[in-house]
Amino acid sequence: MSRSKPAPLEPDTKVGGYRIVRKLASGGFGVVYLALTQDGQRVAIKEYLPASLVERPAGEMIPVADPEKLSLYRLGLKSFFEEGRSLAQISHPSVVGVLNFFRENETVYMVMNYLEGASLQEFIIIARDLKRKKIFRESTIRSLYDEILQGLRVVHQHKMLHLDIKPANIFVTDDDKPILIDFGAAREVIGQEDRRFRPMYTPGFAAPEMYKRDASFGPWTDIYAVGSCIYASMTGYPPYEATQRLEKDRLPMQLSKLRGIYSDNLIEIVEWCMALDPLARPQSVFNLQKELGAEHPRRYTQLSLSEKLRMQFDELVTDTKARVDKARQVTGLAGQFGGRDKP
Ligand SMILES: Nc1ncnc2c1ncn2[C@@H]1O[C@H](COP(=O)(O)OP(=O)(O)O)[C@@H](O)[C@H]1O
Ligand SMILES: [Mg+2]
Repeated sequence: MSRSKPAPLEPDTKVGGYRIVRKLASGGFGVVYLALTQDGQRVAIKEYLPASLVERPAGEMIPVADPEKLSLYRLGLKSFFEEGRSLAQISHPSVVGVLNFFRENETVYMVMNYLEGASLQEFIIIARDLKRKKIFRESTIRSLYDEILQGLRVVHQHKMLHLDIKPANIFVTDDDKPILIDFGAAREVIGQEDRRFRPMYTPGFAAPEMYKRDASFGPWTDIYAVGSCIYASMTGYPPYEATQRLEKDRLPMQLSKLRGIYSDNLIEIVEWCMALDPLARPQSVFNLQKELGAEHPRRYTQLSLSEKLRMQFDELVTDTKARVDKARQVTGLAGQFGGRDKP
């Protein structure tokens, strides 16, 4: 049965002494509004309103959870509350500031500094459409991630992990400051054994250990995501999902295409952050910051002709294989082709 999404609060609704101006965004877990304080300051308010668990007719305030989903709803509510509580302890220019959080209408609200700008994802898409060789300049990438890492380091110092770092969760303000947002998946997991709450993951940005039941997370888990974000800032696209990489890792080939465009050192940093083995990655943000900020003279190693040819051949094989697989899916004739591909 399809059902409608719960309605957002209407403009001019009052919650916790704030006045809703309009909805800014809505995701699976809630709605973000622009609102005003009593003295007219702009704030952003995030309301816990999981679309798959509750209903709310337009004009109503209180979301109603389906009875059989009530325990899930409460669990999510607790974790949303944790997001606010954790964030409230942190004050850093690269981490979104939480001003207040409160319960009302049988749900939870988190009040944040209102940020003006756009997410890094939007910038990447715009840059990608320009079809230049580089998405961002190397110096831009280095300074952007240096600022993000300063914030992330403080998050880790508070024994928290973000666990959902991706370009959509990096906000770039109109005065060019990158800010980490959306700590919905954040957990005080460092040294914590309770594994009941496995966070959601975003393909391409989630480290391989996030797909495993019994793996332990650490700063290296967020660092994998940072590496993926840097990759997306160089190529315009997310990298292949970790599970696919475990089968056949095309990352080295994709990175070698960036040679001559970005410095060898930046390419090596991405490779280091995105190592499939957690132990082979930088183990702390500080390790990574040192390398990203190091003043090495930049070396650019161009691809040799034979490497270019090998890469083209590799792509041809991959493309052909993908086309054959697609054709099989479409025609449903997989069995008649007798199973495996010839290498
Ligand atoms: N503090 C804020 N100021 C302005 N806009 C915000 C703020 N926080 C979130 N947003 C907007 O809401 C969107 C979703 O917020 P986010 O925290 O990522 O929630 P989710 O992805 O879980 O829906 C962001 O991409 C951004 O456009
Ligand atoms: Mg988000």
